[in-house]
Amino acid sequence: MHTTDAINTRRTAKVLAEGPWTPSLTQDEQEKLSEHLLNLAAKAPYHYKSAERYKIGMQSSSLPFRCYTLDGATCNALASKLEALDPPPGKILNMLWAAELLIITTWLPDIFGTPPEQRIMEPLPFVGNLRNMEHIAATSAAIQNMLLGATAEEYPNYWSSGGVLRQDAARKILQISMEEIMLGAVFIFPKDALEKASQTMPGKLREEGKALPNFSKKVTL
Ligand SMILES: Cc1cc2nc3c(=O)[nH]c(=O)nc-3n(C[C@H](O)[C@H](O)[C@H](O)COP(=O)(O)O)c2cc1C
Repeated sequence: MHTTDAINTRRTAKVLAEGPWTPSLTQDEQEKLSEHLLNLAAKAPYHYKSAERYKIGMQSSSLPFRCYTLDGATCNALASKLEALDPPPGKILNMLWAAELLIITTWLPDIFGTPPEQRIMEPLPFVGNLRNMEHIAATSAAIQNMLLGATAEEYPNYWSSGGVLRQDAARKILQISMEEIMLGAVFIFPKDALEKASQTMPGKLREEGKALPNFSKKVTL
């Protein structure tokens, strides 16, 4: 699929399953898809390296973001663990049951001063400087690359803020440090998800604000 077609075809598809689905891809195919999308994320432009404090063990990359991938079975396992929480989460369970792959993407804020020994919340608000703005911008570009890549391969997809996945209880299950700030939980659904699902919800703002003169202005000098 041509890039323009992928951009034009990409749309939010929140796929809700009534119970855990068996992945339509083999384990090997799931791994390959995950690797393909991560490679696209790595190709996104980025301006500033992440702070040294984030370069831990294998996670030594200078990229200002980190990606955590969950295959279909792990999404179902996560749903079972989240179901046991009080109160149990809502529609995210239905999406985890449907997902073929989940790529949780965090960005790595520059922080100033000594961080607390333990965090039960993400470091919000973060310092609103140019570097942090550009860390987020780079991470967003990486996420969009993955959405377009999934669209090009005809996998319905959805960029979620993460909801309950941001919270302390889920972060402990996922082992994602609270020092990192979740920017997107990227759901990748099976190719036949739209026919298979009891319900699919579109993005609320799909048609909103698209008229060119309403967001662009020609500069004449
Ligand atoms: C940073 C970001 C976070 C988002 N988080 C959510 C979310 O938590 N829940 C949701 O329903 N949609 C979320 N969306 C998807 C938007 O609702 C969707 O992109 C918008 O309605 C436009 O629809 P489209 O993606 O089909 O063009 C998010 C999009 C972005 C860029």
